[in-house]
Amino acid sequence: FVSAQSNRSPVAPTPEQFQSTLGNAYEKFKGDTGGKNADYIPYLAHVDSKLFGIAVVTTDGKLYKVGDVEYAFSIQSISKVFTLALAMEELGPDEVLAKIGGEPTGRPFNSIPAVVDMPSHAGNPYVNAGAIATTSLISGADPVAKWAKILAFYSEASGSKLSLIDEVYKSEAATNTGNKAISMLLAKYDRIYANPFESVDVYTKQCSVGVTADQLAVMGATLANNGKNPMTGKQVVKQDNVPHILAEMMMAGLYDGSGQWAWTVGIPAKSGVGGSILAVVPGKGAIAVFAPPLDEAGNSVKAQKVIGYVADKLGINLF
Ligand code: DON
Repeated sequence: FVSAQSNRSPVAPTPEQFQSTLGNAYEKFKGDTGGKNADYIPYLAHVDSKLFGIAVVTTDGKLYKVGDVEYAFSIQSISKVFTLALAMEELGPDEVLAKIGGEPTGRPFNSIPAVVDMPSHAGNPYVNAGAIATTSLISGADPVAKWAKILAFYSEASGSKLSLIDEVYKSEAATNTGNKAISMLLAKYDRIYANPFESVDVYTKQCSVGVTADQLAVMGATLANNGKNPMTGKQVVKQDNVPHILAEMMMAGLYDGSGQWAWTVGIPAKSGVGGSILAVVPGKGAIAVFAPPLDEAGNSVKAQKVIGYVADKLGINLF
């Protein structure tokens, strides 16, 4: 890691600086061979590990991109950010915090002890336990209605009509015994708020939503822009809820890699095992990077390096 410079420059980078910084990052890291694809979801093991795309969307609606930015990959755990946003739209931040919690667990994303570590909740909305519980909070007459609401909300945040990658969904649904076990433990401790297996199924669908790097960057830019999608002008996330979402990204977005990330790069971010990371710079914009090989904590190796490099070159470490 290169430690990123702090966010003290009042001068916004020019379009040329954005584009050349992304181009340089792409060239610098495209040959990096660190990490390996997730394989506990069989589909992900077969995604081309050389795919590599970078997209930046600014709060004034400019898009910069390089590499494989048209390839639709599964959003995986980055979905947790937007289901949290939707739960707060419905219930408000106090109730969501009371029911789910906001404490970093320091444990792997799929930790089973995370369910019972805390006295009254499931850790935070970004570990699987807390995320499944957050999905269970979404209202709807049945799982079909809940899923439709979640997909529509993600689509508004991205400014595109998103859809499920059916093969990813089937692959994870056939192998997600760990998440089902977590849901049963959540039920034992009264920490899930709808039918456990139905909630896992909706959660598995939300993780299987396909996004391109530029669609994901728009979702991040919506958060950077106080909840208003800078491409469509629509207020998708209530402005008052955005700080809670970003605070959790800072503390738990990269799981047991979150502390090192805050120390070195200093930007709220969320990773997904599909190989992407979304980082959000409040008031400025967001960067989405897709490159499948992951480190031990389940975070894309190249994506971490690219975001660290870009943050350093553009001086956007928040601290
Ligand atoms: O539940 C799972 O295990 C996956 N659908 C999502 C995990 C994930 O993306 C963790 N991220 N780095």
